[in-house]
Amino acid sequence: MLDLIIKNGQCYIDNKLVNIDLGIKEGKIVEIENINQQSKEKFDASNLIVLPGCIDTQVHFREPGSTDTEDLNSGSKAAVIGGITGVFEMPNTNPPTANKEEFQKKLDLAKDRMFCNYAFYFGATPSNQSELSKLKNLEGCCGVKLFAGSSTGNLLVHKEEDIEKVFEHTSKVVSVHSEDEDILNQRKKLRENGNVLTHQVWRNEESAISSTRRIVKIAKRLNKKAHILHVTTKEEVDFLSQHKGNITFEITPQHLTLYSPDCYQRLGTYAQMNPPIRDKSHYDRLWYAVRNNYNDTIGSDHAPHLKVNKDKEYPNSPSGMPGVQTILPVMLNHVNEGRLKLEQLVKLLCENPTNIFGIQNKGFIKKDFDADFTIIDLKKVIEIKNENIESKCGWSPFNGEKFKGTPVATIVNGEIKMKNGKILGEPSGKPMVFK
Ligand code: DOR
Repeated sequence: MLDLIIKNGQCYIDNKLVNIDLGIKEGKIVEIENINQQSKEKFDASNLIVLPGCIDTQVHFREPGSTDTEDLNSGSKAAVIGGITGVFEMPNTNPPTANKEEFQKKLDLAKDRMFCNYAFYFGATPSNQSELSKLKNLEGCCGVKLFAGSSTGNLLVHKEEDIEKVFEHTSKVVSVHSEDEDILNQRKKLRENGNVLTHQVWRNEESAISSTRRIVKIAKRLNKKAHILHVTTKEEVDFLSQHKGNITFEITPQHLTLYSPDCYQRLGTYAQMNPPIRDKSHYDRLWYAVRNNYNDTIGSDHAPHLKVNKDKEYPNSPSGMPGVQTILPVMLNHVNEGRLKLEQLVKLLCENPTNIFGIQNKGFIKKDFDADFTIIDLKKVIEIKNENIESKCGWSPFNGEKFKGTPVATIVNGEIKMKNGKILGEPSGKPMVFK
């Protein structure tokens, strides 16, 4: 007796869509064929596409510290509503997740409270190398997060010798917020009160490429793995496309959808994030990267802030925008508009995260793999509305816009956690396991 059969869907297997049924038992994929066996539950996926569970490799769920804005429970609800079956959550909480006790606290807080699967980043500091050297088999740890330039929270490792020590002491992937702190400090005076357009003037292209060059130099010299988060400049695209291998990089959906000055004129400080949304020439080069498979992942950088704070006058307004719920509709709309292929999106959200970070038994629809699925309707048009945003922040930069292509069901460890926009059952996400 199976627990669940997904029938009549087009399943994404071996880079193709195949009309086949999937049989699930005890959270694993046990049958991939036309199934006549009994099952406790059936999911009719007629006219739908069944993808491996999509993983958002950059989210900020704010717990502990700012649980008025988000917490592990609310963030995970937003994730499954958005078709996301697993998240990598960031350590810039209060206190930051930068020692073993705080890491264990996050795992304890996540247990029985998260609807999706999860892993946590361990934050790097200038002095926690001894902790970083013990992460190899730490349950639920996807990697090390290094803020080379300061952003939300107080994690920062900006001196070259300290960055080197972080890389030296870990065998995990080091994911980097790559902005050059010295350049940011020199240019801070260029911010104008009330003028969010000066955010990109302050945090300019040079601050991004200068830091990225330094990170790549260090990682290559020490033969370590670096993953550059939210790349925003044409200079970085050109540089990073020459340094593939142990160096990988992410682009966000918002940097592929919004550009300056339009986004700041429409959204004001709601478009403010680090590193900033830049002009159309950068946007075009980011799409060039996607078309040529230069970037390795798409992460939402889900970074919710309350409206009362976003409404403050620039630069007192915080940087960041939510995105875990909208990453799939936004990117599927780009698929429908011909900017990338569905196969590329599956690589960026499922296969590459699994391979880069070494997640066990995820990322592919294969026998004995975990039964995590993102079921999509590629033709359905939805309108993103603030009132439907599950995140505690209650807004989206895409409010009022229509998108073609959307998740209609999220299956996590063999259990249907979202169907037609409704959350089902109890939170039963598990920590991801890494090789
Ligand atoms: O804009 C941002 N907001 N960029 C980051 O790197 C951090 C994030 C946050 O946590 O608010």
